[in-house]
Amino acid sequence: MRVAIIGSGQVGQALGRGFAARGHETRMASRDPASQTVQSWVHEIGANASAGGHADAARWCELAVLAPSWQGAASAVTATEDGLAGKIVIDVTNPLSDGALAIGHSDSAGETVQRWLPHSSVVKAFNILNFADMVDPDYPTGTPTMFIAGDDDAAKHVVTGILESFGWKDVDDLGGIQAARLTEALAMLWITHGMRAGTWRHAISLLRPRE
Ligand SMILES: NC(=O)c1ccc[n+]([C@@H]2O[C@H](COP(=O)([O-])OP(=O)(O)OC[C@H]3O[C@@H](n4cnc5c(N)ncnc54)[C@H](OP(=O)(O)O)[C@@H]3O)[C@@H](O)[C@H]2O)c1
Repeated sequence: MRVAIIGSGQVGQALGRGFAARGHETRMASRDPASQTVQSWVHEIGANASAGGHADAARWCELAVLAPSWQGAASAVTATEDGLAGKIVIDVTNPLSDGALAIGHSDSAGETVQRWLPHSSVVKAFNILNFADMVDPDYPTGTPTMFIAGDDDAAKHVVTGILESFGWKDVDDLGGIQAARLTEALAMLWITHGMRAGTWRHAISLLRPRE
C-alpha cells in the first residue's frame, strides 16, 4: 500500500518506519521535505521511504496517517488539497493545549478531522500510548489494548489488519468516530499517570471476564 505520513515528529517517524518495514511504500509529508529531520528519516529507512509536500503525498497515497501537532492539524489538513478524498485517514492526534485537552466531552479531534475531511474515512487509532510502543508493543506483564473508532466499518477492518501486522493482538472497536472523545480522554489518563509515575512506556489493557 502507498502510505502518506503527515507530520515528521516522533509519531510520524515511528509509524512511517513501521509501515516501510512491512513493505509499504511510505512518504513523509512535511512543510519542509528537504529538512534534515525528514531527509535523515528517508536515508535511515532506505527502500520504501520518500518525502514530499502535503498535497503531493495526499494525491499519491492510498492511506494516510495524520500525525501533526494539534495546533498544526488544521493547516496540515488544508494543505492536502482534497487529495485524501475517498481514502482512509488514521488520526493519531490528541488535542492537547497547555497539558490538557483543548476539546472533549461533546467533541473530539477525531470528529473534527472527520468534519474537515468529509469524503475520507477517518479512523482514530494509536493515540493512547507513547510513539515508541506504537509498533511491536512488548509488555511482559500483559497484552495492551488498542482502541479504535470510526464511522466506516470497512476502513476499521483495514486499520485493524494494519494494527495486527504491527503486533497488536487486542484491537477493540469502540464504534463511531464519536468514541474518539473517549480515546482522547484515555490518552489524558495515560499522560496523567506518566506525569505522576515518571514513566512513559506504560500501556492500557482491557481485561475481559472468563468466557
Ligand atoms: N509523541 C507521542 O508519543 C504521542 C503519542 C500519542 C499521540 N500523539 C499525538 O500525535 C501527534 C504528533 O505528535 P509528535 O509528538 O510526533 O509531534 P509534534 O511535536 O506534536 O509535531 C508533529 C509534526 O507536526 C507538524 N506541524 C507542526 N506545526 C504544523 C503546522 N502549523 N502545519 C502543518 N504541520 C505542522 C510538524 O511536521 P513538519 O515540520 O514535517 O511539517 C511536526 O514535526 C500529536 O497530535 C500528539 O498529540 C503523540
